[in-house]
Amino acid sequence: MSKMPRRKFLSGAATALVGGRLIQNASGAPMLPVAELTGAAPLIVSTWPFGKPANEKALEVLRANGSGLDAVEAGIRVTESDPNNASVGLAGIPNADGVVQLDSCIMSGPGHRAGSVGALSGFRHPISVARAVMEKTKHVMLVGDGAAAFAAKHGFEKGPKVSPGQFAAWKRWKAEQKRAEKNHDTIALIALTPSGDVFGGCSTSGWGYKLPGRLGDSPIIGGGLYVDNEVGAAGATGLGENVMRYCGTFLVVEFMRQGMHPQDACLETIRRIARLDPKGFDLSINFIALDRKGRFGAAGTGTGFEYSVTCPSFSRVIQSPGVTTADIGPVGGNRK
Ligand code: GLY
Repeated sequence: MSKMPRRKFLSGAATALVGGRLIQNASGAPMLPVAELTGAAPLIVSTWPFGKPANEKALEVLRANGSGLDAVEAGIRVTESDPNNASVGLAGIPNADGVVQLDSCIMSGPGHRAGSVGALSGFRHPISVARAVMEKTKHVMLVGDGAAAFAAKHGFEKGPKVSPGQFAAWKRWKAEQKRAEKNHDTIALIALTPSGDVFGGCSTSGWGYKLPGRLGDSPIIGGGLYVDNEVGAAGATGLGENVMRYCGTFLVVEFMRQGMHPQDACLETIRRIARLDPKGFDLSINFIALDRKGRFGAAGTGTGFEYSVTCPSFSRVIQSPGVTTADIGPVGGNRK
């Protein structure tokens, strides 16, 4: 996991999601159901406490009559610009060759449009390049040198291919020849606008010291992000390999289409994956979701996945329920 001190972002008056539906105040007293706390747009949900300033930027853009895409892009650019974030943007942990390769995608509910970049090096804002792929080409995804050539042609802001601090850490890692462990988080940010439309984006530097050219779930539509304007949106963070094999966010949205509350859709997706996967719950994956009714939720394997929720009446970090073996019984249906 990244070294981000997540706890320090939590407010003193801790709140929690209970039973997937209630928010609990610091003294443990249940408050209004989530749907009643929100139930109206705009609503912005993102992964991790570091998503909170991104949400707040997105809300500012929507309040100034910016579009849903403008809001998602501006919000994610906040996280991509953070020099202390070691898992999003050019301050991220590099790959095994010492180069930061960024993955990102963006999706618009209206028109069901999407754009994506993978293994992009040397550009500060992959979310903006992903949006340009969507708006300026007939394609959905550009990767590697082709994505970089496209970004250069369209004048996107460049940056160093690795930060000095991360380069020094990479040199130490290389000297020790350690295995790359799960050491990254991702921003996925989803938004419901006042017009009732849904948008989303996702951005990461991915698995630190990954094999050059490795793509995670974050640039994959239906993997790290999925938006359906009839239903809602979902985003993922965690180990991309364990999300993209199950089309995780697509599944969350499909469960919502069947009528599930976003919270239940996230939980059921994790249960489904854990039941099938040889690793059971040892998957390090987390989902966020919102629907067109203004309801939201999240769930993660293990405990302690924190996500950020922002609407006109509040902006806060919430702890999601973890899913454990006790919740579903035997797991690992594909063990053979
Ligand atoms: N979830 C981001 C990644 O695995 O690259």
